Parts: sequence; C-alpha cells; structure tokens
Amino acid sequence: MILRADQPGIEWAAKALAAGEVVAFPTETVFGLGGDALNDSAVKKIFELKGRPANNPLICHIASSEEVSRVADLGKLSPEQLKVFHELAESFWPGPLTILLPKVKDLPYSVTAGGELVGVRVPGHQVALDFIRAANCPIAAPSANKYTKLSAVTARQVEEAFGRKLLILDSDEPCHVGIESTVIDIGAGVNILRTGFVTAEDITGVLGVEVNLGGAAASSAPGQHRVHYAPRTKLVIGSDAKAPNSKHCGLIKITGPLTDEEISAFARAETLSESGDLLEAAAKLYLTIHALDGLGLEQINVLPCEMRGIGTAIMDRLRRAAAHGGV
Ligand code: TXA
Ligand code: MG
Repeated sequence: MILRADQPGIEWAAKALAAGEVVAFPTETVFGLGGDALNDSAVKKIFELKGRPANNPLICHIASSEEVSRVADLGKLSPEQLKVFHELAESFWPGPLTILLPKVKDLPYSVTAGGELVGVRVPGHQVALDFIRAANCPIAAPSANKYTKLSAVTARQVEEAFGRKLLILDSDEPCHVGIESTVIDIGAGVNILRTGFVTAEDITGVLGVEVNLGGAAASSAPGQHRVHYAPRTKLVIGSDAKAPNSKHCGLIKITGPLTDEEISAFARAETLSESGDLLEAAAKLYLTIHALDGLGLEQINVLPCEMRGIGTAIMDRLRRAAAHGGV
C-alpha cells in the first residue's frame, strides 16, 4: 500500500515499523526496505522479502550523528579513526556516505551478516529523517528491490517489485541523488567498498589522504556480486546504431545531446544529461532504465561516460546490470 508521507502517514508507518513490520521509504539515493535495526525478527523479514542471502549486511539509517551510539561503539575506534569518522560525518552527513563502524552488542548479527562492523548513514531526505525520528529506532534498510534487481527510485517501482501488501511511504521529494551511497571502511586507511555519489576525490578533499578504491573492484566484497542492479531487458554497454535490430532496441546516452542518427536508429533514445552534467545523469539513471525496461525492447544499449567523479559509480552500476544478460 502506498501511503502519502504527510504527518499522519509518517506516524502510521512509524508505528508499523516499531511493531516489527517492514516499511519502504524514500531516501535521497534510492528507496529503502526498512525495519527496526534492533529487532532481529524484523531484520530477518527484510532478508526474506528481498530474497537476499544472509551473508550480505544491511545499512543502518539514523537521524543524526548524535544517534550513532545506538548502533555503533565509537569507543572501539583508535583516536585517528575517531577523528576520521567525525570529519567525514561532519562533511557528508546527512548524505550518501555509509561508514563502517564497530557494532554495539545490542545490534543483532543479522544486520551485519555475522560481522563486527555495521554500515551507518544519516540520509539526506526529509521524509527519511522524519520517519526515523517518529519510529525512534535506527532503521536497517537495503535498497527496496528484489535481490540483484534494479534499485527503485519511485514508490510505484517498489510496489511493482513487492506488491500491494508492503507499506510504502511516498513523497513529492524525489530521490534526487538517484544512485546509492558510497560505502567506506575506515579500519586501515580509507577504503571504498562500493562506489557511490560521494567520490574518492570528495573524501580526499576532506581528509587530505589518499583513498583506496581496491575494495570496490573486489567482486568478493559483500554486495559486489558481478550481477546486480539488473533490469529485465538485456543491457549492453556500447552501441551499433547500424545493427539491423536497432529498431527494436533502446539507447541510453549518459552525457551529451542525441544525434539525429541515434534518434532515428533506435525505438527509443534518451540522454541522461544533454549538457554533460554527471550529477544530473546519476539522478536520472534508474528512472530512465526503469522506463525503457517497461517497453518490451529487445535490448537496451548504453553509451558509456567518462570514469571521473560520479561517472565511476554510474559505470560500476551499468557494468553489473550488463553482466545479467536479461531474463
Ligand atoms: O544509498 C544506499 O546506500 C541505499 C539507501 C536505502 O540507503 N541502501 C543500499 O543498501 O543501497 P544495499 O543493502 O542495497 O547496499 C548496501 C551495500 C551492500 O553492498 C552491502 O554489502 C554493503 O553496503 N554493506 C552494508 N553493511 C556492510 C558491512 N557491515 N560491511 C561491509 N559491507 C556492508
Ligand atoms: Mg542494493
């Protein structure tokens, strides 16, 4: 059921969440499939609904950095790590940066997939913040899509994936970032485990240290399966506008205007940012793939973008989506 995120709607959803139900809610990145992080059976419901293996941990969402002690034990950080944490939280929260921290004892191991670290972030979306405050608990939430499928950026897309039984908070404020948070480990230096909206350059700019991207490339890292973020339609990186079947295919150009040839060669052609703005492109990425995925095309071709700034995260998502090959 899609519920408007006005005050009564948020209160209703918060009550359901506090009672152990799973509720989908918008964030600035993508929709989350939330449950009370301190309630083991609520967390297990999330895994079940999503079809996600128990060895892939969930991010905990809190309403401000003061609440971090509800899920993380900062006392276990070294003075240097603590300084790094505070600098990052001050610069990027609320926002799309997930920081791995030592978990508190009370946080169920189902959230962390048995590990000692918990991913934490303060989302930069008013409805998400109001919802966490109303529920008065940290909210464990993966992206609100079935395992390995495309993330959802509208309430309707969440409903299409999970059906009408799921309570879904909807708001007029869009998922304006449009791509998932960056996940970093600050245990030994700063390692990016998943690229996202906050770039290595952004983090270096704040901390003044080099950031290691090794983790993001390792397919063994949790959530870094080769196939991920996949639409139903086969997705291919690169395009051959002269291919005989292009009339049955879609084209997504990440940056730059579409040419007349591209428009006439494909059944549907879209550019994510005519002016070449990668932030605008990220914001439209999932919306556009979802839209083309619904057209019954033979294939979606995507013209790659530069691997700079957020272009790295956009191309990471697209490569994983392309590994799928359609179903
Ligand atoms: O923007 C986002 O991050 C969205 C919104 C809803 O917050 N959430 C999201 O969650 O994308 P999910 O579960 O789809 O992806 C989280 C990623 C996964 O790759 C997971 O393996 C990794 O973060 N992760 C979470 N907790 C971790 C931990 N304790 N250790 C290592 N990796 C972790
Ligand atoms: Mg996900």
